[in-house]
Amino acid sequence: MESKVAMCIGCHSIPGYQATFPEVYKVPMIAGQNSKYLASALHAYAKGERKHPTMRSIAQSLSDQDITDIAAYYEKQAQVPAVPETVTPPADIKALLDKGNCASCHGANFSKPIDGTYPKIAGQHPDYLYAALKAYQTEGNPHLGRGNAIMAAQVKQFSHAELKSLAKYLASLPGELRTVPQSKFR
Ligand code: HEC
Ligand code: HEC
Repeated sequence: MESKVAMCIGCHSIPGYQATFPEVYKVPMIAGQNSKYLASALHAYAKGERKHPTMRSIAQSLSDQDITDIAAYYEKQAQVPAVPETVTPPADIKALLDKGNCASCHGANFSKPIDGTYPKIAGQHPDYLYAALKAYQTEGNPHLGRGNAIMAAQVKQFSHAELKSLAKYLASLPGELRTVPQSKFR
């Protein structure tokens, strides 16, 4: 397993590591994420449904079996106690969350999605969440954007300022995602 994830450590196991494309943001925390979602995201990068040049070439270098194994590894890498079921957002944020019905899929605490292929988003880095939400709005750009139809429909109804508020709030919640520091030379 160490050799399979060796290629990921340089970005996903360094707390606070920043990506610079298409803007500066922290690389997503993947430890503790649902394995089915991790696998689904990797397949989407490989196919180009999620556009990201670096993650595309990395995902394309993995076999289906590698993806299954790596996804299972990262799901178990962070052993975090389950976070509380309910949270009460401030009124302005609640209005945005209700408009998008976000909790109906991502769970009341945004850590318990209704399907394993949907992500936990509570506690994720705010700048990454914002970049991801904007990516679902992007259309017709060969280098940028995410093709997921469910989220595309969700984000269409929001301005960038509203997406930023949502990202900031979701990131502030207690979550189950972590960056687990890991040395290449164990
Ligand atoms: C050069 C840095 C870099 C390396 C190396 C790297 N990643 Fe990534 N990864 C990123 C960035 C940046 C993103 C966010 C891309 C985007 O905006 O969609 C990302 C996104 C992801 C996502 C999607 C997370 C989510 O919440 O949707 C997964 C899963 C992932 N990477 C897994 C891996 C795995 C597994 C490896 C090793 C096989 C790896 N990455 C190697 C930088 C990297
Ligand atoms: C009908 C179900 C559904 C609803 C409603 C929904 N989502 Fe999602 N969300 C998903 C799915 C499925 C994905 C994974 C898409 C993909 O594979 O790119 C996702 C992905 C995301 C991501 C990307 C996470 C990552 O790690 O890259 C964010 C952020 C997000 N949703 C936030 C929201 C917000 C905020 C709302 C409300 C405005 C919302 N979602 C409403 C199903 C939903």
